[in-house]
Amino acid sequence: MGLETDVRRAADLICEADSVTIVSHIDADGISTESILAQALAREGMTVKSVFVRQLEPMAMRHVEKDDSLKLFTDLGAGQQSLIEEHGLSADEVLILDHHVSQPCGTAYPQVNSLDHGITRMSAAGVAYLVAKALDSTNIDLAKLAVVGNVGDMMARENCGLVGPAREIVSDGVEYGNIIVQSRDLNCYGTSTRPIHVCLGYCDDPYIDGISNSTSSALRFLERLGVTLKNSRGGWFVWEELAFEDRRRIISALAQQLIAHGRETDRLLAETYIFPDEPERTALRNASEYATLLNACGRWARPGIGGRICRGDRGDAYRDAEQMLAHHRTIIRDLLQYILDTGVTELSHIQYVHTGDKFPDTIVGIGAGMALSKLNWRKPIMVLSAMVDEPETTKVSMRTNEWALARGVDLQEALVEASAAVGGAGGGHRIAAGAFIPKTTEEEFVDRVNRILKRQSASADPDNS
Ligand code: C5P
Ligand code: C5P
Ligand code: C5P
Repeated sequence: MGLETDVRRAADLICEADSVTIVSHIDADGISTESILAQALAREGMTVKSVFVRQLEPMAMRHVEKDDSLKLFTDLGAGQQSLIEEHGLSADEVLILDHHVSQPCGTAYPQVNSLDHGITRMSAAGVAYLVAKALDSTNIDLAKLAVVGNVGDMMARENCGLVGPAREIVSDGVEYGNIIVQSRDLNCYGTSTRPIHVCLGYCDDPYIDGISNSTSSALRFLERLGVTLKNSRGGWFVWEELAFEDRRRIISALAQQLIAHGRETDRLLAETYIFPDEPERTALRNASEYATLLNACGRWARPGIGGRICRGDRGDAYRDAEQMLAHHRTIIRDLLQYILDTGVTELSHIQYVHTGDKFPDTIVGIGAGMALSKLNWRKPIMVLSAMVDEPETTKVSMRTNEWALARGVDLQEALVEASAAVGGAGGGHRIAAGAFIPKTTEEEFVDRVNRILKRQSASADPDNS
């Protein structure tokens, strides 16, 4: 069946329901997914209740009530269908909207999964948006949230941004008027909120010699270019406010700086998505900062605040979220530093580090992703962490990159297989996956994953094992 048919069937199932419970993931994609659906259903006059979980695991299932509502599992569920079955839910009371690799079970749950249609670059928020649009074509104002979810889950391609069906969603937002696409824009966090020298000084991917890690050097660099950096009231411009010509001048000087130091320029630019209907100089002005704001809420156990922001709350919820964002960014910076300072243990096919109970299990995956580009990026990275509320369990996060995928690496397969062998459970994507395992099996688990990755690269290239 085609994607459109699956989407239509999902919309019909929803229309037939008396009430709906959305069970969604706590990250930016999960939060935007929930908001798209909850708003679309409320517009249909339907009763909706939402539950956020950090992962669909046995403990989390307790939050899924056994009532008459249709259970919409979003941004999760595809990889945990046997858990849904064990919970006693039948095929006619469940609908899964997901983009994770499926682990089917005896019950054939209805599902819309982008992966089933060969689409690897569209997140759950994209799927949810298509369903919302099938419910009513006026829901295209929600395309903006779908773009936030997709950007949050890193679905954009370097240089050309969102592609395929996710690109069509961008076009809906452009048509509606709440998205502006900027191709070949500066690929740097904070273009809507930070003075430009701060934005550049904090940017280290790409690493720009003489600028990264030093806001004062970044300021001197900009001053030498003769660009107007302050407004008429003496306040700093943010990147988004600069004149087009000044932006071009800075980008070309940064490119020259990279080339002069023998570095690649491909990470300097990216397509960005600006939201003109949001207040200027806030984290809501572009998709990347918006997604990070939602992640900050969800990963620090306040996904509901993120949900209120997606529904337009620009008062208390936004203020709370801004505080969480500042905290989130400080902690992930500390986490990255901790991983780099502690150092990883390298096995033949993975590198790993244990962060103990120093950082919450909900953010270690972000640290793994950030550390990989600074370590041996050819070797997938694993971060193990203690779970404070479940001392018998260890959380595992793994990240790799397109280079390794092309050489046979599949982290989802590796973690599903290795965690099942030690009595745990895992899932995710080829490029990013996670698992929960019994604490006592950590050593065996690491070794198993290493052997599985060795097997994967051997079967992709027999000369390279
Ligand atoms: O649950 P989950 O979908 O949240 O995992 C999202 C993570 O997967 C993100 O941290 C993102 O970095 C990573 N990811 C990625 N590239 C993809 C898909 C996911 O980096 N194509
Ligand atoms: O790897 P994963 O997709 O979980 O991480 C993506 C998220 O990581 C982003 O949405 C953002 O919240 C966070 N992040 C960040 N600053 C960075 C890199 C990632 O806040 N420099
Ligand atoms: O937690 P982390 O960000 O490392 O998760 C990476 C990916 O693995 C996510 O897509 C997440 O949903 C998935 N995952 C999973 N089962 C787990 C842990 C993570 O499917 N037990």
